[in-house]
Amino acid sequence: MCGIIGYVGSRGGLQVGVEALRRMEYRGYDSAGVAIADGTGNLIIERKAGELANLEAAIAVRGSGEFQGSTVIGHTRWATHGSPSDRNAHPHLDETGKIAVVHNGIIENFAALREELLAAGVELKSETDTEVTAHLVSRAYFSCPETAGNFVESVLSVVRGLVGAFTLVFTHADHPDTVVAARRSTPLVVGVGEGETFIASDVAAFIEHTRNAVELDQDTAVVARTDGFEVLNFDGTPSVARPFVIDWDLEAAEKGGFPYFMLKEIAEQPRAVSDTLRGHFIDGRVVLDEQRLAEQDLREVDKVFVVACGSAYHSGLLAKYAIEHWTRLPVEVELASEFRYRDSVLDSSTLVLAISQSGETADTLEAVRHAKAQKARVLAVCNTNGSQIPREADAVLYTHAGPEIGVASTKAFLAQVTANYLVGLALAQARGTKSPGDIAREFADLEAVPELISRLLESVESVRELAQRYSESSTILFLGRHVGYPVALEGALKLKELAYMHAEGFAAGELKHGPIALVEEDLPIIVMVPSPKTHPILHSKILSNIREVQARGARTIVIASEGDETVAPFADHLIEIPSTSGLLQPLLSTIPLQIFAAEVAQARGYNVDKPRNLAKSVTVE
Ligand code: G6P
Repeated sequence: MCGIIGYVGSRGGLQVGVEALRRMEYRGYDSAGVAIADGTGNLIIERKAGELANLEAAIAVRGSGEFQGSTVIGHTRWATHGSPSDRNAHPHLDETGKIAVVHNGIIENFAALREELLAAGVELKSETDTEVTAHLVSRAYFSCPETAGNFVESVLSVVRGLVGAFTLVFTHADHPDTVVAARRSTPLVVGVGEGETFIASDVAAFIEHTRNAVELDQDTAVVARTDGFEVLNFDGTPSVARPFVIDWDLEAAEKGGFPYFMLKEIAEQPRAVSDTLRGHFIDGRVVLDEQRLAEQDLREVDKVFVVACGSAYHSGLLAKYAIEHWTRLPVEVELASEFRYRDSVLDSSTLVLAISQSGETADTLEAVRHAKAQKARVLAVCNTNGSQIPREADAVLYTHAGPEIGVASTKAFLAQVTANYLVGLALAQARGTKSPGDIAREFADLEAVPELISRLLESVESVRELAQRYSESSTILFLGRHVGYPVALEGALKLKELAYMHAEGFAAGELKHGPIALVEEDLPIIVMVPSPKTHPILHSKILSNIREVQARGARTIVIASEGDETVAPFADHLIEIPSTSGLLQPLLSTIPLQIFAAEVAQARGYNVDKPRNLAKSVTVE
């Protein structure tokens, strides 16, 4: 989830570019860069790893006088392919130095394109999937008879052959009055000024210059010039664009119109899940990325340990249900901070799954080192490219949630659950415990989840009302069975960390062994109910548990699948979620709990992005 800007107009390109990147820095801060067409056939480029300040310092050393020209493209990076380094920072250039590109997204067929370019003798300078597009446009422009000399046609001919999700913005030294962009499945919006046009990942990039914007369809290209812009389909025919007026202020624009980043991140969950799945099922097989473990290594695994902290730990608890079910391997899940201080039994046949959004959490990092010292193989599930945990692990599967600014994990958690399930399917495939047909069906079920999340997000008003109603409670309990149990733990954690309210999650069957003593008149209890179709026995058991607490005066808030007619009499409040397979239900049932916690916190007057005493990344043990 990078931030990108393209500009043609009469202002100073450097200033417009750097300001836009500052407004979009929340989208990624692994590196930043700009390329300016100076109007005399040259591109002036600067790019630096790390925060925007590093780019600004590098520009200051060269002197801003060196960066003359109005046409600019710029990029602030959230690394996906290639570590966050100067060499992988955007913009990327072709071999002539005439064409530069910035990119947000993932080009899935980049490995094949890279091979093609290497075979043709092109020297690639970075490890990114992006750089190939600069060379491909260059070849189209300089050597392909059909597109030679035509900048727009050259870009279109290249994007037609790309697979994946991308927004690409190109500039060309010999066409300093034009910027060409193309998008598929990643954001791109046009800002329309007087004698100037902006192209950006979001409106925050240009809101101080113009409030007139244009929204684009999928698979469209934009040709921006000082005197206006054209929107084209990838085949070059004109496309429709929808003008709108931005009525947000700058702060709201950065948050996509939401009052808090966390609420924006909750809304981004369909994309977090679909981006995490993207490119991991090819020719009927599950493929992990940066797989430095051979399929044979996966076959030899005889035990799995999951280590993680906080919400990542809860995603690990869910992994246990899926991995054991699909692979018949024993799975232990352990808090990373506990793992290395006891004599856990592991050896070279043990696979340790280390889950961390930041990739920097000290407890998890130390657990990885401890596992490696005992010759176990470590597979990291991580959201931050190039961070320490994936660097030290034997293999990594990246979640593609994009940067998460809110301290409480939401979209990163859902992406972790998704990635953990991919690991489970990859293990089942390697060990032959599931047939290719079963694996394809499980993957298809996962692929259907983003659409279900979008549907759920449209119908959560009742959760907000409930949150208002229970915002003054002193305690709320969460109950679940099977995969509903880790969801109960996650729901309670969210409420504790955001609303500073006492909350506990319990396995519903355990209730009668102690926690039921806490139940008193009007105590709110949130219960995750599995679908009667997928888990008929669990379903009836949990209805009994609900009866037990109702008999003692509790108020029940029940989260159940649509179409579950038997549950209504047991619910003082019913929240329906779309139906999916049993193992996948947490990807939906967690969402009302996130919204509930955020709404209770707001009702109590707290900043949900920055809960007290907490940090996003905890680098001490
Ligand atoms: C902190 C955060 C939690 C997060 C945990 C693990 O405690 O506040 O939201 O779940 O760290 O972080 P990680 O980056 O390793 O996933």
